[in-house]
Amino acid sequence: MAEQLARGSGIRKTWEECARMKAQFGEDAVCDFTLGNPIAPPPPGWSSALREAVAEDAPGAHRYMDNAGHGEVRRRVASYVQADSGIAVPASNVLMSCGAAGGLNVVLKALLDPGDEVITLAPFFPEYPFYVDNHGGRLCVVETGDDFQPDPQRLAAAITSRTKVVLVNSPNNPTGAVYPAAAVGAIAEVLAEAEARLGHPIYLVADDIYRRIVYDGATVPWALALYPNTIIVNSFSKDLNVAGERIGYVVVSPRAEQAQAILDACAMTTRILGFVNAPSLAQRVVSRCLEASTEMAEYRANRDVLCEAFARAGFRVQKPQGAFYLFPKCPGSHELACCADLRGRGIFVVPGSAFGRAGHFRVAYSVPHQTCLRAAAILSRLA
Ligand SMILES: Cc1ncc(COP(=O)(O)O)c(C=O)c1O
Repeated sequence: MAEQLARGSGIRKTWEECARMKAQFGEDAVCDFTLGNPIAPPPPGWSSALREAVAEDAPGAHRYMDNAGHGEVRRRVASYVQADSGIAVPASNVLMSCGAAGGLNVVLKALLDPGDEVITLAPFFPEYPFYVDNHGGRLCVVETGDDFQPDPQRLAAAITSRTKVVLVNSPNNPTGAVYPAAAVGAIAEVLAEAEARLGHPIYLVADDIYRRIVYDGATVPWALALYPNTIIVNSFSKDLNVAGERIGYVVVSPRAEQAQAILDACAMTTRILGFVNAPSLAQRVVSRCLEASTEMAEYRANRDVLCEAFARAGFRVQKPQGAFYLFPKCPGSHELACCADLRGRGIFVVPGSAFGRAGHFRVAYSVPHQTCLRAAAILSRLA
């Protein structure tokens, strides 16, 4: 754990330094782009669903339950996913989880034997290495292109006889890239070919946590529709702004090889990892507001202001189509020097190496619009 503490402290350290500066010089002294922690309140649908769920207080509402979650909640989530994806999903293929973090750990523990390989695409969410390591897996990183889109050839080259899982995240943290249907289709083709050659399933685990946070009419394809051996992990942390409530879900494709065994295993891993079940009240609340989603106007405005400000200041910026992150490239200088320079000007960002790609930095813009305007004013002095 001492080793992991040292490895996992990059974002935390930047955030702590930022918090110290705020305490010393006031909130407005710094522009804090360190954490992807939505600051907007949950949408109105959440509050009314919460009141309803509390008022209902049905018998058994607060007891232990099936490790996979409340039956009625799983039924509602299944019909929501079915309607949205066009793929028939029985309630028995849904398992409620403690956020996406809980869901990913439950799935990886269910799937991995010691030494099994999990491929993920860089840049990636920095907790993935920990999650894979938790369950005896080996993380293999495959680079995406300069546009942060998957490269099917590199993926194909990374597959070995030990590859059990390919873990993808679109819209992506930290780049905001959205993989179109053609890109997910190309991944599916590579995996299907490898499965046929190797004679065992390779599961595509799609971390869909930012699925509903998209811009400019971008759509996020359902991997369920494109590849049989798919497992979806989703959460309400970002689209309902309820990250502290720890609620999400897992869907195992009914077409997946050994789907029932995986579902049974996930119920067991939910139990033995100590989650026991996803929080009961949060399950009943989200099941009543599955269509609700956060207000996008401020994210869009933040994205536009920051993209323009960083680009004018000489940074190469790929305009994100989803999530609430920018991942600009440092011009010339080393990323740590570049981040330190920005920090010296009051702009706190996280070095790209924390996400598996040096030479960049992440800007989390789930912040008040004023913060982005202040940052833009600072950046205009660099232009
Ligand atoms: C890509 C990605 N996956 C998973 C998580 C964990 O989310 P949750 O709060 O639902 O556990 C996050 C949180 O930032 C994330 O960005």
